[in-house]
Amino acid sequence: MARFTDRLVAVTGAASGNGRAIAEKFLAEGARVAALDMNTDALESVFGGNNNVLQVACNVADVDSSAEAMKVIDKEFGRLDVLVNNAGIVKHGTFEELSREEWDQVFAVNSTGPFIVSQAASKLLKAGKPDHTRAIVNITSVEAHIVIASSGHPQIHYNASKGALLQLTRALSVELASSGIRVNAVAPGFIRTPFTEEALKSAEVQKFLLDRTPMGRIGLPEDVANGVAFLASDEASWVTGTTLFVDGGWTVL
Ligand SMILES: NC(=O)c1ccc[n+]([C@@H]2O[C@H](COP(=O)([O-])OP(=O)(O)OC[C@H]3O[C@@H](n4cnc5c(N)ncnc54)[C@H](O)[C@@H]3O)[C@@H](O)[C@H]2O)c1
Repeated sequence: MARFTDRLVAVTGAASGNGRAIAEKFLAEGARVAALDMNTDALESVFGGNNNVLQVACNVADVDSSAEAMKVIDKEFGRLDVLVNNAGIVKHGTFEELSREEWDQVFAVNSTGPFIVSQAASKLLKAGKPDHTRAIVNITSVEAHIVIASSGHPQIHYNASKGALLQLTRALSVELASSGIRVNAVAPGFIRTPFTEEALKSAEVQKFLLDRTPMGRIGLPEDVANGVAFLASDEASWVTGTTLFVDGGWTVL
């Protein structure tokens, strides 16, 4: 399949895990990709030498950095067909221990970041070809809908930040519909990435997760990327404001 030939795609947090798999999926299907990340060394080690990738330094939580990133994309691409707001962080800690700084940090990246980047990118998305589907896909989490604190990782700030991103997705889908830009979310379950590497070392955590996953395996970044590609493709041209769960059935139980 080459659903993204001639398409121009930006992916945040593209240097690792889900973001990397998402960028690679679009590349495999013919797109040129602007790979945005704060970790420019990791970007270079993953995408160095790939002429279809524009590496862009960007801190999604920073207005100036995101505006600068869009300037770079504008200069090279001149428009965008797809934006994937994937960059996100997680921290653990009980409600009692949680500092205001940590709460703000998680919100700044996970909720405010997608707002900042989407706003900075909106001119480029509006400049996209009307005959191309144009879309924003936000990476939320099953944790926007349910709470898995019983796995030993209380994270109310993460839950709340992903809940905010879910509702940002829905609200923005209404506002951008008249511009022909669709806005959807992919809500991954537990995915094997550097983000979850530490937790997955524990046999107890693995058992906890597998016991609750009807499909009987831990998710892969490629599973997330496949969901994102569908929502970003012409096949989803009448799909907006919704969430695709990529969780092996976790949220059904
Ligand atoms: N791994 C999972 O189980 C899982 C489950 C549900 C949702 N998610 C979501 O998927 C997304 C990616 O997670 P991952 O597991 O691939 O994580 P990861 O840590 O492997 O990768 C995250 C990437 O984002 C970048 N990043 C972090 N903060 C940034 C910022 N302020 N600006 C720009 N880039 C920044 C990092 O440098 C890194 O390259 C996150 O939004 C996460 O919440 C992950």
